[in-house]
Amino acid sequence: MSRDELTKIILPEDKMPKFWYNVQADMPTPLAPGLHPGTKKPLIPADLQAIFADGLIAQEVSTERFIEIPKEIREEYKKWRPSPLFRAHSLEKALDTPCRIYYKYEGFSPVGSHKLNSAIPQVFFNKMQGIKRITTETGAGQWGTALSLACKRYDIEAMVYMVRVSYNQKPYRRIFMEMYGATCVSSPSTLTESGRKALAETPDTPGTLGLAISEAVEDAVGREDTKYSLGSVLNHVCLHQSIIGQEVKLQMEMVDDYPDIVIGCCGGGSNFAGIAFPFIPDKLKGKKVRLLGVEPAACPSMTKGVFAYDLGDVAGFTPLLKMYTLGHNFVPSGIHAGGLRYHGESPLVSQLYHDGLIEATAVMQNDCFSAAQLFAQTEGIIPAPESSHAIRAAINEALKGKEEGKAKSIVFNLSGHGHLDLAAYDNYLSGKTEDVEFPEEALRESLKTLPQV
Ligand SMILES: Cc1ncc(COP(=O)(O)O)c(C=O)c1O
Repeated sequence: MSRDELTKIILPEDKMPKFWYNVQADMPTPLAPGLHPGTKKPLIPADLQAIFADGLIAQEVSTERFIEIPKEIREEYKKWRPSPLFRAHSLEKALDTPCRIYYKYEGFSPVGSHKLNSAIPQVFFNKMQGIKRITTETGAGQWGTALSLACKRYDIEAMVYMVRVSYNQKPYRRIFMEMYGATCVSSPSTLTESGRKALAETPDTPGTLGLAISEAVEDAVGREDTKYSLGSVLNHVCLHQSIIGQEVKLQMEMVDDYPDIVIGCCGGGSNFAGIAFPFIPDKLKGKKVRLLGVEPAACPSMTKGVFAYDLGDVAGFTPLLKMYTLGHNFVPSGIHAGGLRYHGESPLVSQLYHDGLIEATAVMQNDCFSAAQLFAQTEGIIPAPESSHAIRAAINEALKGKEEGKAKSIVFNLSGHGHLDLAAYDNYLSGKTEDVEFPEEALRESLKTLPQV
């Protein structure tokens, strides 16, 4: 079959990558160290041991190019991996573009997103250490769902703090987590000191990921049997997600194609890192491939933030990370893409953006919903509101290609499906979804509270 006849590009199970790719081995500028929030001195592994399992800390600081994926994890991965790469023939036709558009479908996982790629290894390494309980935060609920399933697979208790605005918008996600035996509460909650403080100060707060992280970390450090788990941002999470881009490279080889541009939406940065980082070595060797991260105009950490040390959470429990940030006190408007409402960006993505190896753009919520609707009507899949940001950027690139008469090859990460986000689409269809102007003044105020380093 010729390249243009294929719609599903399926990598056989035995070709699934056996190693994660670690971009830290290839970065032109090494990562600035994380700092202790109290002493502001570079972190030592012991600082992280109160919250993370040892196996994950080793991955966090590793500069080995390839790290073997344990066989037990590969066996779990096989339930949904390798994930299909689709050629978006119908979307191309609707856009009347000469460009070839491909999407990597991570919504094929049992929980509906890429998040399980990291939840399984994170829980696995906790299990190896005898941990009995894991706490976490979740925005839209995709990460919480993934962690809940992973915990059940390894017989560990899961406690999920879900950002209030999403908890109210997406009640089915809570039920999804409870089906896997997890406990899910709205954040801020009355269970933690940080939650009670936030509720006392702003009773009607929509909540933020930064605050939910504070609650989950506070809960974990208070108990011997418990560790904390983060669904994005950190190096080990980007490492786990690298299986996505490695598969894409093999799948593109199968159709004798190579991307001109690779696109992913950016919350904390992990699904973008996952699809984009495996292309960095090629780029460093001179290949012309653009790597584009897409963030919401309501929470544009790279395109409007500053590159500075900041806290990963609101209460100040997490290490200081050098990253693009809007300031840990920034409260983004309650957009439906709850998974993109994080004030910072992964330090790895941030450093590579700073060094000009990746690009970033910000898009408005309604433009994403219209892209999602066109995608649903052509390709059939209703995307997660987060993923619709990548779709919007891919469509814009395809239309630009048409204007310039260039047949570019465009690959984007469809990080998840939106089957439990129908209330958001209902809002959009009835014209109730607002594009809020970015609050420059709130950003200035928030940046004033960046820690002095
Ligand atoms: C479907 C989906 N895509 C993307 C994201 C953004 O996270 P990240 O930038 O870590 O991939 C989320 C986060 O919740 C998500 O649920």
